[in-house]
Amino acid sequence: MGMTGMIYMVTMVFSLTVLVLCSSTVGYDYFQFTQQYQPAVCNSSTTPCKDPADKLFTVHGLWPSNWNGSHPVNCTNKTMNSLTMGNLTAQLEIIWPNVLNRNDHAGFWNRQWNKHGTCGVPKINDSLQYFRTVIKMYITQKQNVSEILAKANIKPEGKNRTLVDILKAIRSGTNNKAPKLKCQKKSSMTELVEVSLCSDHNITQFINCPRPFPQGSPHFCPNNSIQY
Ligand SMILES: *[C@@H]1O[C@H](CO)[C@@H](O)[C@H](O)[C@H]1NC(C)=O
Ligand SMILES: *[C@@H]1O[C@H](CO)[C@@H](O)[C@H](O)[C@H]1NC(C)=O
Ligand SMILES: *[C@@H]1O[C@H](CO)[C@@H](O)[C@H](O)[C@H]1NC(C)=O
Ligand SMILES: *[C@@H]1O[C@H](CO)[C@@H](O)[C@H](O)[C@H]1NC(C)=O
Ligand SMILES: *[C@@H]1O[C@H](CO)[C@@H](O)[C@H](O)[C@H]1NC(C)=O
Ligand SMILES: *[C@@H]1O[C@H](CO)[C@@H](O)[C@H](O)[C@H]1NC(C)=O
Ligand SMILES: *[C@@H]1O[C@H](CO)[C@@H](O)[C@H](O)[C@H]1NC(C)=O
Ligand SMILES: *[C@@H]1O[C@H](CO)[C@@H](O)[C@H](O)[C@H]1NC(C)=O
Ligand SMILES: *[C@@H]1O[C@H](CO)[C@@H](O)[C@H](O)[C@H]1NC(C)=O
Ligand SMILES: *[C@@H]1O[C@H](CO)[C@@H](O)[C@H](O)[C@H]1NC(C)=O
Repeated sequence: MGMTGMIYMVTMVFSLTVLVLCSSTVGYDYFQFTQQYQPAVCNSSTTPCKDPADKLFTVHGLWPSNWNGSHPVNCTNKTMNSLTMGNLTAQLEIIWPNVLNRNDHAGFWNRQWNKHGTCGVPKINDSLQYFRTVIKMYITQKQNVSEILAKANIKPEGKNRTLVDILKAIRSGTNNKAPKLKCQKKSSMTELVEVSLCSDHNITQFINCPRPFPQGSPHFCPNNSIQY
């Protein structure tokens, strides 16, 4: 075997090792950062919201996800460390409120951490990292969907929007990557409920969200007359 062959072999073995190591430690392909439009959440809730909704997109959760659509959940039994939450609480109450029950924000955070956050290893190793990451994304990196839409002059005025206009607005705030939109039918109209922004497994760059809700799904967003 010549020198080139040797180098080739060594490179291949190295690459394969890296691949195997990566696939065995990372239980997800990408992250979905999902924000919900409060009035639409209250509209679809079986128990009415206890307090009036703000016309804002706030955090639903940060979800490790797979291309094949089967998202890992409840990965470990590590409970949320309430003591070390410390000074994050004030910011979380603003960006990640429990819209259904504002007396129990911590319950909502805890459920999201247990179900989704625990599956974020090695990017997310503990609850503190989970909540810090979300604060960084929403505030520092300006992934605030209300703000992204407002910049394209799409404000929560209860108007009929076209899908194209919403997509264009979000793409302008995400390096031209496609979000995943969730809509719901409310009597004769369709309202926008959730917007998910997707990032690579390292949360270093936006990616196109896979798997839009298909036509026929109750969450499908039509081309026209989406209320926001
Ligand atoms: C929610 O319900 C109210 C009352 O039925 C309605 O006026 C409003 O347009 C609905 N949708 C949103 C997104 O607020
Ligand atoms: C989906 O992909 C993940 C990660 O690659 C894998 O663990 C899981 O078994 C897959 N699920 C299905 C239904 O294919
Ligand atoms: C994950 O845990 C939550 C809370 O205990 C539970 O409601 C849910 O059914 C679990 N999901 C799965 C897929 O095990
Ligand atoms: C979490 O605890 C429950 C009940 O003790 C157990 O059945 C389950 O296997 C545990 N899950 C993990 C991922 O450790
Ligand atoms: C929280 O405290 C840490 C260290 O104690 C500090 O670095 C951080 O800036 C504080 N964050 C806020 C939002 O006050
Ligand atoms: C999580 O833990 C792993 C293994 O100890 C480490 O390599 C990684 O850097 C940690 N991640 C973060 C975000 O601190
Ligand atoms: C998100 O954007 C909306 C609309 O511009 C703004 O009202 C709200 O204060 C922003 N939230 C945060 C935490 O910056
Ligand atoms: C993940 O991001 C960190 C920090 O930007 C970088 O050092 C690392 O090389 C990245 N890893 C991968 C697999 O992209
Ligand atoms: C919605 O718009 C897309 C892109 O312009 C088009 O391909 C599709 O046929 C439209 N769907 C309907 C139901 O009109
Ligand atoms: C939005 O479109 C729906 C369906 O076409 C229609 O019923 C409704 O009256 C429109 N609403 C507004 C505010 O224009």
